[in-house]
Amino acid sequence: LNYLTPKSRQEVLDLLVTGLKRLEYRGYDSTGVAIDSPDNKDIVMVKRTGKVKVLEDAIQEHFSGGEYSEPVNTHVGIAHTRWATHGVPCERNSHPQRSDEGNSFVVVHNGIITNYNDVKTFLAKKGYEFESDTDTEVFAKLVHHLWKKHPNYSFRELVEQAIQQVEGAFAIAVKSKHFPGECVASRRSSPLLVGIKTKTRLATDHIPILYGKDADSGKPQELRPHGQTRELPVLPRSESTSEFMPLEEKEVEYFFASDASAVIEHTNRVIYLEDDDVAAVRDGTLSIHRLKKSLDDPHAREITTLKMEIQQIMKGNYDYFMQKEIFEQPESVVNTMRGRVRFDGNAIVLGGIKDFIPEIKRCRRLMLIGCGTSYHSAVATRQLLEELTELPVMVELASDFLDRNTPIFRDDVCFFISQSGETADTLMALRYCKQRGALIVGITNTVGSSICRESHCGVHINAGPEIGVASTKAYTSQFISLVMFALVMSEDRLSLQQRRLEILQALSKLADQIREVLKLDSKVQELAKDLYQHKSLLIMGRGYNFATCLEGALKVKELTYMHSEGIMAGELKHGPLALVDGSMPVLMIVLRDPVYVKCMNALQQVTSRKGCPVIICEEGDEETKAFSTRHLEIPRTVDCLQGILTVIPMQLLSYHIAVLRGCDVDCPRNLAKSVTVE
Ligand code: G6P
Repeated sequence: LNYLTPKSRQEVLDLLVTGLKRLEYRGYDSTGVAIDSPDNKDIVMVKRTGKVKVLEDAIQEHFSGGEYSEPVNTHVGIAHTRWATHGVPCERNSHPQRSDEGNSFVVVHNGIITNYNDVKTFLAKKGYEFESDTDTEVFAKLVHHLWKKHPNYSFRELVEQAIQQVEGAFAIAVKSKHFPGECVASRRSSPLLVGIKTKTRLATDHIPILYGKDADSGKPQELRPHGQTRELPVLPRSESTSEFMPLEEKEVEYFFASDASAVIEHTNRVIYLEDDDVAAVRDGTLSIHRLKKSLDDPHAREITTLKMEIQQIMKGNYDYFMQKEIFEQPESVVNTMRGRVRFDGNAIVLGGIKDFIPEIKRCRRLMLIGCGTSYHSAVATRQLLEELTELPVMVELASDFLDRNTPIFRDDVCFFISQSGETADTLMALRYCKQRGALIVGITNTVGSSICRESHCGVHINAGPEIGVASTKAYTSQFISLVMFALVMSEDRLSLQQRRLEILQALSKLADQIREVLKLDSKVQELAKDLYQHKSLLIMGRGYNFATCLEGALKVKELTYMHSEGIMAGELKHGPLALVDGSMPVLMIVLRDPVYVKCMNALQQVTSRKGCPVIICEEGDEETKAFSTRHLEIPRTVDCLQGILTVIPMQLLSYHIAVLRGCDVDCPRNLAKSVTVE
């Protein structure tokens, strides 16, 4: 939108496609882009099934002509890479979705409009014909319907009216041929930010919010499921149409994006929009509107400066982001501890929660809630938290926690663990606990994310941007963040000082030990060659290493599409042993910790059923190694940190199997990095 220096439509397309590439990890089954036609009278769309590269090739084919190289001063382009929720991935269902054949309004959308069927029925009765199976299309058509009904409304007012009629989650950007050079965007539950690029330093660090005229009396209204033939309710019209001026910069480019990686090469100045904010750009001016004032609203949106560097989201010399992120772990674990752990004085300070520690110490129980890999970091640290806090610790999958309407009390402390800070299930669970008065602690890797902003306090894990869909370095950093929290909680327990010291010493050696484990790479690759053609892989362990089994199996499933199961070795004889024979691949973690003897029992149960497991054991443990011809030796560390060293061979193994099976390591089929829908 708007330019510091004039740009051609081809340059706009380049910019959009590069932005999509940076966002591709969020979804990659189909893509699309919309720009103005050279005569500005129409909107041109290109959509493709598949990854952004396919779109890029199609764009090169379509727009190599001269008229697309004419520079313009202002232009709005929108683009999208999709992770299908409604409607199979195909061109027809990819975004932008349009209002009519004339492309009056085109929309890109993340999230799910849950009442789309009602809106669709309503619009169908008005004569609209639908061409896709998406929920998004109803939004484009709804805006169009409102435009016909209220021809004197501004673009922003039309979108404002439309978002009041839809339920569910969305981050939406709308472009219209009736409002050239304008863009309106809004969010509810799905992330959305505005990047602002200017030549000189911005004169302000916040943007005031403009409210609707009858804001206080305006009740949110919705389309009733059985009232589809009723006219849409007309909502209070905002007064601020003529006050369109808060960020008046003459030379400025604006970017609306789902996350910072799409804009960081252009600017590090961003505004994170809040739910139901409507951001509009017109005549080079950005304004943010809300229909209703709420008590806790700061009445302005801050312009924040991102610390992210573009190199952090580039692959560098690695073949895949995941590979880069696995190998970054010696540094990322140090970054998680940086400025927090003082190894000389044995002191730990977690700035983001230190003021809340007395309150946390008085709590009834700790709840750790997350999804996928983040949930596994809770499983991995539960035992240590129980030991060092002497509190009951519950670990919960966010979706199941919500399904059960789990009782939550004011004196509960609830941790929400999320790499992205945007996972819808985790965010919903957070809001559920917050409503019930619990203390909310966010553990995230994404500064400015929804979970971060909605928590009372928290820890940024500081692992750096993670792009590979399968989480690796975020897991080890979440793990360490929770260990640090346990250490803080036990600071004044005399009886635990010896244990704390042992853990602190082990933390100080961790980065070097991770480097040692990474040297196993070629050995793991050899092992992958043995395993990649099998259908299944069982991963067994117990105690501190059970989480590695779950996480290892998740990595194998996500990346290689092989069946894999993490098995609690204590449960082996209660069922899983039936799977074991001479051909079933099994991997067992057997370390010299308090459950060593029990693990050896499990190992013997497996070998006596002709199983030939791969063993992950401690360096030089000849006795354990004798049980198998295949083993991976890892350095010795304190029991509660073993999980960090044992998970790395699993990350490498899944990576190599995926490469051998020809899978797309960074973009596994059907998955997305950040799942912002429930
Ligand atoms: C998705 C990803 C997983 C991730 C999970 C939780 O399912 O594919 O890799 O572990 O979400 O994500 P979060 O951002 O909340 O840690």
